[in-house]
Amino acid sequence: MRIAVPAELDPAETRIAATPETVKKFIGLGATVVIEAGAGGHAGYPDADFAAAGASLAATRAETLSDADVVLQVRRPDGTSLSGVKAGAAVIAIMDPYGHEGAIGAIAKAGVHAFAMEFMPRITRAQVMDVLSSQANLAGYRAVIDASSEFGRGIPMMMTAAGTVPAAKIFIMGVGVAGLQAIATARRLGGIVTATDVRPATKEQVESLGAKFVAVEDDEFKQAETSGGYAKEMSKDYQAKQAALVASHIAKQDIVITTALIPGRPAPRLVTADMIASMKPGSVLIDLAVERGGNVEGAVANEIVTTANGVKIVGSSNVTKLAATASALYARNLFAFVETLVDKETKALAPKWDDELVKATLLTRDGAIVHPNLLPKEPAAA
Ligand code: NAI
Repeated sequence: MRIAVPAELDPAETRIAATPETVKKFIGLGATVVIEAGAGGHAGYPDADFAAAGASLAATRAETLSDADVVLQVRRPDGTSLSGVKAGAAVIAIMDPYGHEGAIGAIAKAGVHAFAMEFMPRITRAQVMDVLSSQANLAGYRAVIDASSEFGRGIPMMMTAAGTVPAAKIFIMGVGVAGLQAIATARRLGGIVTATDVRPATKEQVESLGAKFVAVEDDEFKQAETSGGYAKEMSKDYQAKQAALVASHIAKQDIVITTALIPGRPAPRLVTADMIASMKPGSVLIDLAVERGGNVEGAVANEIVTTANGVKIVGSSNVTKLAATASALYARNLFAFVETLVDKETKALAPKWDDELVKATLLTRDGAIVHPNLLPKEPAAA
C-alpha cells in the first residue's frame, strides 16, 4: 500500500496531512509513504525529518501521486489535480462539500474514493479521528491570542503605581469545542468572560469554566438541541429576542469571538453592523465562522476590516497560524481512520463499505457522488 502526501494546493494552507510520527506508524502498518518535497515546510516539518522517518520524497505532485493507493490532504484537492491517480485510490481530506458539489463531482470523475474527515460520526470509536474537534480546539485558543494582539489594551486587571487598568470584557458566541477553549483561554489571561449558545447544555459548561452565561432561556431554548448534540436553526422569533439581548450586551464588550455553526447550513448571522457601530473604538471581533458565511456582518475571510467607528473585524482562518500543532493532531486523526481501512492480513487498502465510519464519510465511489447529503433530494411522497 502506497500512501502519498502531496503539498497543499491552496497557498494560504500551511498545514500538512502527515508528520514524521505518522509516517513511522504507516510504515509500521506495512505501507510505503511518499511526501512531495517541501510539503511540510510551513508547518515546521522539513524533508529531512520525513526521510529520517522512512518516507521517500518526490519532486513533483505527479510523481508523488503516481501509483498511490491512499492520498492524504488537508483541504479538498481539485479533480484535475487527481487525474494521474489510479481508479479506486482513497483520497482523504477535509472536503468542505456543501455548496461545492461541482468540485466533488470532478473528484468523482477522477475515479477515486473521496472521504470527508469532517463527516466522521461523533461516536466513541471515532473520537480519535474527529478533525472538527482537533482543529476547533486550537482555533478557539488562537482566537483569544489573535484578539489580544489586535487589542490596544491589556486583558487582565493590573494594579500599578500609575493607576488601575481594568480587565477586558470578552464575549464568546457559540460554545462548542472552539468556544469552550476560547472561554478557558480568555479566563487564563484574566478577562471578564461571558458566553452564549442556543443549546441549553452549554450553560453549565460555561459556568464550570468560571464564565457567565447570557441567553434568552425560554421554552424554545430548552429544546434547542438535536439528538446528535448539535444546534438547531432557531425560529425567527427566538432569533429576534436573542439579537435584542446580545445587542445591549455587545455594546459593553471589548472583544467578541464568534464560533457558531449549524451542521450543513450557513453560519447564523449573530452580530449586525448596528451592533458593531455600538461598540467602543479599539474593540475587536474575531469571526471563526467566516469561511462558512460568517457570524459577523462585514467579516471577510483572511482580512482585518476596520469599521468607521474604529472596531476591528478579524476574519482569519487561524489554525494555519498553529500549523505545527494543527498538523500533528490532524495527521493523527488521519492515521487512526486509515488504520480502519487497511486489511491487517494482506496489508492492503480494503474499505469495509458497510462500516459506519465509511458510510458516513464516503463522498464518491466508482465515478459518482454517493453521499446521501450531496444527492438531489427525492420529492416528498404525496
Ligand atoms: P459547532 O462547531 O457545530 O458549533 C459551535 C457552537 O455554535 C455550538 O455549540 C452551537 O450550539 C452554537 N450555535 C449554533 N447556532 C447558534 C446561535 N444562533 N447562537 C449561539 N450559538 C449558536 O459545534 P461543535 O464544536 O462541533 O460541538 C457541537 C457538540 O458536539 C457539542 O455538544 C460538543 O460537546 C459535541 N462534541 C461531541 C464529540 C463526541 O462525542 N465525540 C466531540 C466533539 C464535540
